[in-house]
Amino acid sequence: MNPVNVGVVGATGAVGRTILSILAEREFPVKEIRLFASSRSAGTSVETPWGTVTIEDLATADPSGIGIALFSAGGERSREFAPRFAAVGAVVIDNSSAFRMQPDVPLVVADVNDDAIIDRPRGIIANPNCTTMDLMMAAGPLHRAAGLKSMVATSYQSVSGSGMAGIDELMWQTDWLRSNPDALREGGFEEPDSEVYVAPIGFNVIPYAGSEKEQGYTDEEWKLVNETRKILSSPGIEVEPTCVRVPVVTGHGLAATMWFERDMDIAEAKDLLDAASGVQVWTDDVPTPLDSAGIDDVLVGRLRNTVGAPGGINLWVVGDNLRKGAALNAVQLAELVAAEDG
Ligand code: A2P
Repeated sequence: MNPVNVGVVGATGAVGRTILSILAEREFPVKEIRLFASSRSAGTSVETPWGTVTIEDLATADPSGIGIALFSAGGERSREFAPRFAAVGAVVIDNSSAFRMQPDVPLVVADVNDDAIIDRPRGIIANPNCTTMDLMMAAGPLHRAAGLKSMVATSYQSVSGSGMAGIDELMWQTDWLRSNPDALREGGFEEPDSEVYVAPIGFNVIPYAGSEKEQGYTDEEWKLVNETRKILSSPGIEVEPTCVRVPVVTGHGLAATMWFERDMDIAEAKDLLDAASGVQVWTDDVPTPLDSAGIDDVLVGRLRNTVGAPGGINLWVVGDNLRKGAALNAVQLAELVAAEDG
């Protein structure tokens, strides 16, 4: 891989910071690094493995000279600025949902559908939704072997999926509830109010992750339906999603039941997943979000043959939503792009 000028947009956020550490960990060949955020952070100096870098204001910066730009500053910024970066020659790897379902933008999970990266007429590659990404690491190898036909998936999503604001809300609510324990027995609290979520997340579970989209399903739930079909290049896969927010800081879990074009049993599923890169199958312990936090692999556990509707596979998958679910995959895509040029 030749050294590349890299831009990180949203460099002060939860995903942006993880991108910087993963670029360093994986010794990505960074020639020069440029960091972008809002005018609130512009001018601030940040220590990076490549030296001290001053944050640039995305709104006014000139992106000329950037070879690969990793965007994690929200959909609105991506819609406005990703095409501008691409127009001056950068390959944009976008972590938002802005371009994921556009037919001329590939949606790529490294180790699942790498080949899709090549056809990117707009110079933009979309990084999938964090929940879908973790699930695809398990579903992809099984699909390749037996053709995924239908899937019921329920997510247990951590608050870092909502950025720093989600983490802050869980933390202050936990502190507040610990010092007001009566509220935990008496139905929560009235003041102060939740800002990020529709209900308190401290010591609670919210069966509504994301925001209302269509037919009573949230945008997060629709992402599981639509992104699964696009990543696996199978528009007919039936997906029934429910997305739940849980008081976990890092690590998204999913319980998924899958049926294929033919019967599959757990011995075959285990062999397929054992052979897959980036996946660990746990048989002696149950993998929890905490086990996945800070590591690259997605963990699969509770592998079972279906009992109510036989012939399928029931499993639990958990992954670090900031790493494989976002920053790690973005860096892996950057590596694939950098490798194209030798
Ligand atoms: P800033 O820190 O300057 O607000 P998170 O979702 O983890 O909170 O991160 C959001 C990231 O997106 C941050 O780096 C944030 O920068 C950046 N961001 C938010 N709004 C803008 C904006 N209007 N222009 C550029 N970057 C933005």
